[in-house]
Amino acid sequence: MNKRTMKAVMITQYGGPEVLTVKRDINIPKIEKNQVLIENYAAGLNPHDIYLRKGILASVIDDHLPIIPGLDIAGKIVATGESVTKFSVGQNVYAMMDSNNEFAKTGFAKTGAYAAYCTTREDTLSLMPNNLSYVEAATIPLVYLTAYQAIVKKLNAEKGQKILINGASGGVGCAAVQIAHYIGLEVSAVCSMHANNFMRSLNPTKIIHYEHADFTKSSEKYDIIFDVVGNKNYEVCRNNLTATGTYISNVPTNETFAVYHNPSDSEKYGFHKKNKYNWVTPSGNDLSKITSIINQGHIVPIINKVFNIDEVAKAHKHMETGISKGKNVLKIKD
Ligand SMILES: NC(=O)c1ccc[n+]([C@@H]2O[C@H](COP(=O)([O-])OP(=O)(O)OC[C@H]3O[C@@H](n4cnc5c(N)ncnc54)[C@H](OP(=O)(O)O)[C@@H]3O)[C@@H](O)[C@H]2O)c1
Repeated sequence: MNKRTMKAVMITQYGGPEVLTVKRDINIPKIEKNQVLIENYAAGLNPHDIYLRKGILASVIDDHLPIIPGLDIAGKIVATGESVTKFSVGQNVYAMMDSNNEFAKTGFAKTGAYAAYCTTREDTLSLMPNNLSYVEAATIPLVYLTAYQAIVKKLNAEKGQKILINGASGGVGCAAVQIAHYIGLEVSAVCSMHANNFMRSLNPTKIIHYEHADFTKSSEKYDIIFDVVGNKNYEVCRNNLTATGTYISNVPTNETFAVYHNPSDSEKYGFHKKNKYNWVTPSGNDLSKITSIINQGHIVPIINKVFNIDEVAKAHKHMETGISKGKNVLKIKD
């Protein structure tokens, strides 16, 4: 590859959407031996990108300004490092990327998806699902890995169990509804009235509109309560768990961080009920399993809006103020 520079979105200071600057002369990143270079066609947009832009993650992530935001990529491999064995140039791949050359101690993946070229480790990659476009594929990695790692890997959820998903119409919520459905769980989806018809299309057993009903005030019990929004903590949900039920959240708060670092202690408070926190990690293995579920037709990508890379500030404004129905995507290249 002879090109040396690329188009990318860069943050040189923390702040509002206006700090997202589209540049055309950013150096194309160099790969290390366990990494691949990807010509990136689309970047999935996540709330993480907003926290990063605002500087909320500055104290915990090992990233320094200037930063290229974004974690979800879908594109074509254009170069491979010398120790890469499972992937080759020309393949269409997607990933929750991590431009660190080794897994970071903080657990945070290093960003760089809002760019025409990205580097990521081989272990973060999966081949793209058979019939998805790059834009569709970019909606999958981070949110499906979050839902898969919570429901399947952490909880070993089994067919017939009852799950309630609080925040079911957003990125993680739609992923959780579809994964739960695939496993054969009985799904109660909590969303707003405006998401009603859209949520019905995902076929949950029950829809609860949060404006009209507070699920924690009902006597209904669940094997799993997956709080994607983070506005109903374990204590509030405890009476709605079965005797061995589990509350799990992916929203970092002081409380969920405490649970993450000391899960056995937190479980003591609930007797046999469990309180868990789920932190998503990039994983090509897990993403390949998700890919195979997509290829079998059990998961469909759900796109809310697609923005061109030049509209990145508008895209962030939309994420901060707009209605969530699935995923927003930044199109990097046609
Ligand atoms: N720790 C991790 O590893 C990890 C991984 C992924 C995501 N996250 C975090 O998880 C959160 C959700 O991510 P996301 O990608 O799903 O965000 P999203 O696409 O913006 O979705 C947020 C959802 O919350 C819903 N919501 C808002 N108020 C609600 C309420 N009172 N009751 C029930 N639902 C409500 C919204 O529905 P309406 O628009 O209809 O109100 C929307 O569907 C974010 O904070 C994100 O940073 C953490």
